[in-house]
Amino acid sequence: MSELEWKPQKNSSVPLHQQISDFMKKKILNGEWTIGTKIPPQRNLANLFQVNRSTIVIALEELAADGLIESKVGSGTRVTNNTWSLLASNPPPDWFSYVKSGIHKPNITIIQEINKAEADPNMVRLGTGELSPKLLPNKIMGQTLQIDGEQSLSLGYMEPKGSLSLRKTVSAYLRTKGIEASPESILIVSGGLQALQLISLGLLNRGSTILHETPSYLNSVHVFQSSGMNLLGISMDKEGIKCDSIGRMKRQHHAALLYTIPTFHNPTGTLMSEQRRMELIDVCQKASIPIIEDDVYGDLWIENPPPKPLKANDTQGNVLYIGSVSKTLSPGLRIGWIVGPEPVINRLADIKMQTDYGSSSLSQYAVEKWLSSGMYEEFLTEIRTELKYRRDFTIKILNEYFSKIATWSIPKGGFYIWLRLESDISTKKLFDLALREHILLNPGMVYEKNDFNHLRLSYSFASLEQLEEGLIRLSQLIKTLS
Ligand SMILES: Cc1ncc(COP(=O)(O)O)c(C=O)c1O
Repeated sequence: MSELEWKPQKNSSVPLHQQISDFMKKKILNGEWTIGTKIPPQRNLANLFQVNRSTIVIALEELAADGLIESKVGSGTRVTNNTWSLLASNPPPDWFSYVKSGIHKPNITIIQEINKAEADPNMVRLGTGELSPKLLPNKIMGQTLQIDGEQSLSLGYMEPKGSLSLRKTVSAYLRTKGIEASPESILIVSGGLQALQLISLGLLNRGSTILHETPSYLNSVHVFQSSGMNLLGISMDKEGIKCDSIGRMKRQHHAALLYTIPTFHNPTGTLMSEQRRMELIDVCQKASIPIIEDDVYGDLWIENPPPKPLKANDTQGNVLYIGSVSKTLSPGLRIGWIVGPEPVINRLADIKMQTDYGSSSLSQYAVEKWLSSGMYEEFLTEIRTELKYRRDFTIKILNEYFSKIATWSIPKGGFYIWLRLESDISTKKLFDLALREHILLNPGMVYEKNDFNHLRLSYSFASLEQLEEGLIRLSQLIKTLS
């Protein structure tokens, strides 16, 4: 209810309060606002509908007079009736108790707030993990999708592992990274997130423990926790995840998997060194713990290509490798891949068939075109130049305005700068304060629940003007709270 498209028409002959009460009545009578639905406070409604509070008071009085809503001191105003339930002998279902049930956990509140705020076009998004809409290749994508009848676009269901021609193309693309993977060992998925979802559903028992870097992207989604798994964080240094405790953790907690983002880690931007990669592969092999390597940022290096993925040095089939075009070509296409031993890929493909019967054939067609024609590589070259400019621009602002209040490292690729605030101010308070000024932040607690002094900044999304103005204002807000 906090994000209504509809607004009353100020130039209509129907009074505003009447338009609002009619609109709300319709929502209640057709069951969109079920019995028990909380009506926002009058001030919020006035903001939502962009009218005076007195207009809201009259509209609500009308609904109350019709017996549709009721106000109670302490619990606010709720929907109490609809015509249907007055006539029906059985009460309508209590959707609120259903909503509280269900296997999947809800997002943590701050992520729900971020997701909601991201829909506001006026928001200055200083932490968003995607390319700015201006950097996405809309025009060329439009041309790519101008398909004539001769071409091999299938509008039918695809093979269980995804389009064979795309898998062949992905196989060739992976070879450029040093990964030998035949099309049979590749599963096309609807983004890296679905790869994680399939692993959690298909390979692990409830109660299993997943080791991961702390902080981690993994804490910002509930894929593993919702399947009854525990997450256990391992600290990082400048070279990536620390390896010395992995064997012990595996034994003590019977850890089932280790999840890592070695290249341009989300949220810290860390690039795992070559030596640490070798050490990690070795330690995990000795401890018999398989690795999930999440490489969705791997193509986004700035000056120099990163060391080869872990998967390139995995001769034992110990690594499940995840890639995606979401951070490069288009998050909206929802195309990624997972590479691993065939029995694992077969199992995950089987679950995917039970879940969605395959990723969009149109998206698979588009990604295949980009990868196989060389357009993807050309596009990456442009994006790397752009990201370098944006990163340097952002670092310059940080040097100027944040040197006394925060510390950071300069990322060698990806999108993120992990900003550590020097003072003990609450980053939640900062988040709320900034949001009121239409500046959206990604506080550290999203990636590690006890982290209260980091912000994940992103130089990929906001425009340069927004980055500059937003960061300068942010530095002032931090100083106000210190
Ligand atoms: C490390 C990591 N893995 C996976 C994803 C999800 O990617 P996709 O959009 O391809 O599902 C993200 C998105 O933020 C991410 O940062």
